[in-house]
Amino acid sequence: MISELSKSSLKERIFHTFHQCRAKTLTLFEGIDDATFCSQAHPDFSPVGWHLGHIAYTESLWLLERSAGLPCLFPRYRKLFAADGLPKSERVRLPNLEEIRYYLDTVRERVLHYLEVADLAQQERLWRFILQHESQHSEIITFILELGKQEKGDRGTRGWGDTERTNERFSVSPLLKFSASSHHHRSEMIQIPAGEFEMGDGSVDALDNEQPVQQVYLKTYWIDRYPVTCGQYRAFMEAGGYQNSRWWSEAGWKWLQTEQITQPLYWYENSMWENHPVCGVSWYEAEAYSRFVGKRLPTEAEWEKAASWDAQANFRRIYPWGNEELTPQLCNHNHFIGTTTPVNAFPAGQSAYGLCDVLGNVWEWTASWFDGYPGFQSYPYVGYSQVYFDQQHRVLKGGSWATRPWALRCSFRNWYHPGVRQILAGFRCAVDESLVSNST
Ligand code: AVJ
Ligand code: FE
Repeated sequence: MISELSKSSLKERIFHTFHQCRAKTLTLFEGIDDATFCSQAHPDFSPVGWHLGHIAYTESLWLLERSAGLPCLFPRYRKLFAADGLPKSERVRLPNLEEIRYYLDTVRERVLHYLEVADLAQQERLWRFILQHESQHSEIITFILELGKQEKGDRGTRGWGDTERTNERFSVSPLLKFSASSHHHRSEMIQIPAGEFEMGDGSVDALDNEQPVQQVYLKTYWIDRYPVTCGQYRAFMEAGGYQNSRWWSEAGWKWLQTEQITQPLYWYENSMWENHPVCGVSWYEAEAYSRFVGKRLPTEAEWEKAASWDAQANFRRIYPWGNEELTPQLCNHNHFIGTTTPVNAFPAGQSAYGLCDVLGNVWEWTASWFDGYPGFQSYPYVGYSQVYFDQQHRVLKGGSWATRPWALRCSFRNWYHPGVRQILAGFRCAVDESLVSNST
């Protein structure tokens, strides 16, 4: 009896979250024009319309074909919307929004029908994967749209007006209106004492690359309380950061020579942004800035310990504040605000060690290459994580203002080539204990 009840409430939760996630995805396409829908904003990224079709394709493949055993519903879309089907440049001849919505709706109708009979004791992990898959493509769609706005020079649209409206609606901290005045406090660092912590996540929510949970020992280190702000980063720009090779690694300097850039991708010449985290930097820029201030990037283990470990309770938290569910008051995520917020806007969301702005706002680059944890097992397919264990991708942690709640937790790992700056990424810095004690 009890197990029947809990099974049905699990199904209800999945039904509900699938619906919520889809509604958020579709919001991104309200009022979109055909050109934006089906053209590439950048050669490295597919058109947003492709991502929408790929969401339906993936849901259909895993839940209808592989699990329910149904035949492929739209065989004509297979080649177009499979991740390994066509080169990105050939993903521009797309069905229109209406046709792709019909695809999504048809697949979803069958999926919900199947949910009624599906054995979730066996399949819960797969359903949660599908939810996180859509969540991640939804964020990709968001930054591709941001990129398009940049290209058009349409910088006002991520404006403060929207933010203020949203603040009222969700009654987020009044600190959102924080001005440039006190950004010098933002360079504060926190000492994380030596010791073991639990890294990763073994729950049914965890993706393959977060598992298995492992015990990791770290020496004492220091880490920034806040992500690096635009105001702080401006000092690097004004000191000739983009003109002087001394702060750049060899690979970073080489990258800079081909890119010919002098500022982050999402950069606004307005003091209003001074206290917001820098957003739209590559790993190389993050590395160079860190060297400029005499620091370095944290490893992903250092980031995760400072974010999730409660040393007093000897307990790993899912979120920095504990295991209580995400809300718009705890961090800037899920497009609730629609842009970055000042790094000190969410004091209620801080970690046990006192780190602020850990989840949401901007992704944070870490020093680590993306790799499998000891005992890694691919799920649901090798191409999800394992093909990226190639020493070519750096790990990002924490999520952005656009990250969906289902992909937001301290153990979640994102990864990109170090030269990518289109994603909504910034960083915070760390230093070794020895560096701090030598100078005092
Ligand atoms: C984790 C965001 C790098 O975009 O390739 C989506 C997520 N994997 N579909 C990516 C993903 C398969 C992945 N990232
Ligand atoms: Fe995908």
